[in-house]
Amino acid sequence: MKKIIITIDGYSSCGKSTLAKQLARKLDYVYIDSGAMYRAITLYFLQNRVDWTSSPAVVEALHNIHLDFVCNSLTSLSDMYLNGENVEHLIREMLVAEKVSEVAAVKEVREFAVAQQVKMGARKGIVMDGRDIGTVVFPHAELKIFMTADITIRVERRFKELYEKNKNITLEEVKQNLELRDYIDANREISPLRKADDAIILDNSHLNLHDQLELVMQWVEDAIMAHSS
Ligand code: DC
Repeated sequence: MKKIIITIDGYSSCGKSTLAKQLARKLDYVYIDSGAMYRAITLYFLQNRVDWTSSPAVVEALHNIHLDFVCNSLTSLSDMYLNGENVEHLIREMLVAEKVSEVAAVKEVREFAVAQQVKMGARKGIVMDGRDIGTVVFPHAELKIFMTADITIRVERRFKELYEKNKNITLEEVKQNLELRDYIDANREISPLRKADDAIILDNSHLNLHDQLELVMQWVEDAIMAHSS
């Protein structure tokens, strides 16, 4: 069957990565979490006290950053490696979440990440989620999805995830972080979060994972059919 590129963009904590992983497993495609790259760069900047408001400092730091996705044999998913170190857990911490949108708005950072993402899609058979995947990274992708969900539902989902690791986290903190990230992501100058004209909107506020996957699999089949001839 013809392999396609599937892009999933949308607001923070809409379940983009959950859907992307389900699709990749079902279709035997590669899943790429583009947000993990921005998170790893942010982690490096924080660890090395890089001033991301200074263009020369950013350019110099990017020369020292090597990012890799390495398959984890336990989860069968890719873990993010920063300069040879597995940072999959570290990049999910609140400290990184608080700064990642600022770092992801920096022109040089986006150019660095996008160039690598484009290369990863060369062989098709890929599901990539993020904020600019259907608009900038793969503007010619065969299937583009734009995800959204009620803010209260997104806050609850994210809170549950973070509470597992940190019992001190509050709902209010999570809500503020999500709202701020959405605002910065949608209003930045370079490739802001927006729906591609040809993306299909998926509002999953009231969809369970099973029904969501069935619905999207239908879109996948339609996209493959439409691009087979
Ligand atoms: O998907 P995520 O929450 O892990 O993404 C973390 C941040 O990275 C998000 O707030 C915005 C940024 N991002 C981006 O600007 N472009 C992407 N393609 C993916 C993520």
